[in-house]
Amino acid sequence: MDHLNKALFGKDFKWGISTAAFQIEGACDADGKGVSIWDTFSAKKGKILSGHKADVACDFYNNYQTDIDLVKQLNIPNFRFSISWTRVLPNGTGEVNQAGIDYYNRVINYCISQGIEPWVTIYHWDLPQVLEDKGGWTNRDIVEWFTEFAVLCAKNFGDRVKYWMVMNEPSVFSGAGYFFGIHAPGRTGLKNFLPVIHHVVLSMVAGAKKLRELLPDAEIGTTFSCSHIEPRSGNKRDIKAACVADALVNRLFIEPVLGLGYPVSDIPVLKGLEKLYQPGDEQNMVFDFDFIGLQNYTREIVRYSVFTPYINASLVKAKDRKVEITAMGWEVYPPAIYHIIKKFNAYPQIRKILITENGAAFSDEAIHDEVNDPRRAEYLRTHLKQILKAKQEGCRIEGYFVWTLTDNFEWAEGYHPRFGLIHVDFDTQKRIIKSSGKWYAEFLKD
Ligand code: BGC
Repeated sequence: MDHLNKALFGKDFKWGISTAAFQIEGACDADGKGVSIWDTFSAKKGKILSGHKADVACDFYNNYQTDIDLVKQLNIPNFRFSISWTRVLPNGTGEVNQAGIDYYNRVINYCISQGIEPWVTIYHWDLPQVLEDKGGWTNRDIVEWFTEFAVLCAKNFGDRVKYWMVMNEPSVFSGAGYFFGIHAPGRTGLKNFLPVIHHVVLSMVAGAKKLRELLPDAEIGTTFSCSHIEPRSGNKRDIKAACVADALVNRLFIEPVLGLGYPVSDIPVLKGLEKLYQPGDEQNMVFDFDFIGLQNYTREIVRYSVFTPYINASLVKAKDRKVEITAMGWEVYPPAIYHIIKKFNAYPQIRKILITENGAAFSDEAIHDEVNDPRRAEYLRTHLKQILKAKQEGCRIEGYFVWTLTDNFEWAEGYHPRFGLIHVDFDTQKRIIKSSGKWYAEFLKD
């Protein structure tokens, strides 16, 4: 194993696996669950590759024991999952669906009975449709709606859940969902994107404050997607474009939370956010999280582009760069994770960092009940080496969660990209541990 072993990371390092409700649970209308924006979006023609839907997905709702048993079989001590908002609050606010609460209690209790620590993400993109009908994240009332949801989670699960992540990747759900329209709810343009940014920041902080008030012993974090960004050339305009892209991709949500404000000087169009400020907002955008979850998969090469409005920057696709890519078309570039850790570690306000997602999609095939995916194990191993390097240089990096347990519903890409350590046959729900899963299990063995 090339001298890489888990002891090198220290005995307190958290090893885990990450999932998200909408991508695995299925049971889209079981036991009183309400409709989320992803239910609506994926039912529309042309939104999801091959018209795939997540009505059944991995049927984790019914199979959770089998899948948690697999987490245990892989020697993974920490299991991250999210709460489906409409399972517990079918109308977004107000009446609580006890069957939904009972379900998450069963999941949490089963994890604990198997010696697995549950890590809960409150919001992983599946906004209640009724709230979207009132404007969703563009409506400032969402700060209250979201806080109500967070409080419900804290009150019902906080006696057993110590580790919380308030949100998953704000930049992705706000950018893809409200600017580019390629994710739910499919809205576009700055007029949507700007208010969403501000309301997401306010909601993330309001939710976090409530969690801390209600659960003083809990560890409260939130997660950000981040990509290491490099300019295509040493040309001044490319360098500037890379700096703008970095502000958008990596700094837009973390900096206000750390008290540094939005990166307006690098992205002047964000000045429009100032119009949305109300008295007290500046304070209500800041929170001292116990940990920051970073989710990194790749690096991006950026060049100046006169045609890209607002930012004059565009990506040079990995495919065109003739580098090794995954099934998502993302470059395999392990040093990216090292640079990202260094970058976030440089903010003195961040107490500790965990990698809450890292992994790769490849076109895995099950042959005679075996799935041989050496590229995934190699991807994980080479990324872990980079994380170890950052740790040995003194970075405050304290955990690593693989994305993801089972192949699942990969949003707009449907079931095509397979990210799991465990292969799923979506016709039969049969699971097969891939060779990468066996590798991770061996690595984690005591
Ligand atoms: C998200 C996951 C997603 C993964 C791979 C992250 O952006 O949190 O939901 O499946 O990356 O694309």
